[in-house]
Amino acid sequence: MTDPRNQVVVVTGASSGIGAATALAFGRAGAKLVLAARRRDRLEAVAREIEALGTSAEALPVTADLSKLADIQALVAAAQARFGRVDVLFNNAGFGRLNWLEQLDPVQDIAAQLAVNVLGVIQTTRQVLPLMMAQRGGHIINMASVAGLVGTPTYSVYAAGKFAVRGFSEALRREAAPWGIRVSAIYPGGVPTEFAGHAGIKRKTRTTTPAWMRLTAEQVGEAVVGLVRRPRAELVIPWPFRFSAWVNQLWPGLVDWVTVRRFTLPERREELKQ
Ligand SMILES: NC(=O)c1ccc[n+]([C@@H]2O[C@H](COP(=O)([O-])OP(=O)(O)OC[C@H]3O[C@@H](n4cnc5c(N)ncnc54)[C@H](OP(=O)(O)O)[C@@H]3O)[C@@H](O)[C@H]2O)c1
Repeated sequence: MTDPRNQVVVVTGASSGIGAATALAFGRAGAKLVLAARRRDRLEAVAREIEALGTSAEALPVTADLSKLADIQALVAAAQARFGRVDVLFNNAGFGRLNWLEQLDPVQDIAAQLAVNVLGVIQTTRQVLPLMMAQRGGHIINMASVAGLVGTPTYSVYAAGKFAVRGFSEALRREAAPWGIRVSAIYPGGVPTEFAGHAGIKRKTRTTTPAWMRLTAEQVGEAVVGLVRRPRAELVIPWPFRFSAWVNQLWPGLVDWVTVRRFTLPERREELKQ
């Protein structure tokens, strides 16, 4: 059991959604937070909320574009200058652009998405890792998604990024263990946040995650704090998605058949006729 109280926790993508909710959950646990994202006003609002909690929590907002190495280096330097160490890194910043591959813009949708969702995670970890190695301890928690376990149509680039996060986390876990560094990946299902507003989803079918399988950002935030308390390599939430991942692994052909008939064909029938 690790107590997050007084731990120095860097949360990327802390200006909204899951990142903001996780920062508040760590704040309630009394952690020292470094909040990173591009929107300064939103980071400052989250920092004020944390400092008003009345716990021992502190919050340092740092403006950073996680697709830029110089910003990542400045973020880690700011964390070290203020708190002298980094105990937990939550690599959460990310976004999805969900559409048929040929309709995604090569630069704005594909390169920009992977620059944050994959390279942002790797480069931020690369900057924090030497500090954790010197400390002989730390915990890196990477935000994946159920899309990192099961590939679905219109999620090709997003899934590529989240599958990459899974591979990165698994390999690094085995690299960093001798230094007492833990690496976890978290795989949530659908969470109502600003994510959908950036994704550009245009659907004809009513295929969505049923309401009973949707999580709130607060539930994911508490699950991340729970991972620090009781570390695990992987956390798939809510649990029925573990079953989906298992079915996909055992019977991929069956999942192809169902997905194409239930989703791809109804969505693309008109285009196929042209
Ligand atoms: N919502 C879901 O259903 C769901 C499910 C599973 C996994 N996830 C993952 O959860 C993570 C958080 O998403 P969310 O749902 O909380 O969406 P969100 O509310 O849109 O939050 C995304 C966060 O990422 C930050 N971000 C995006 N691009 C950035 C960049 N270039 N540099 C720095 N920060 C950047 C945003 O901050 P700024 O815009 O201020 O920079 C924001 O704080 C993402 O990795 C997403 O893939 C989401």
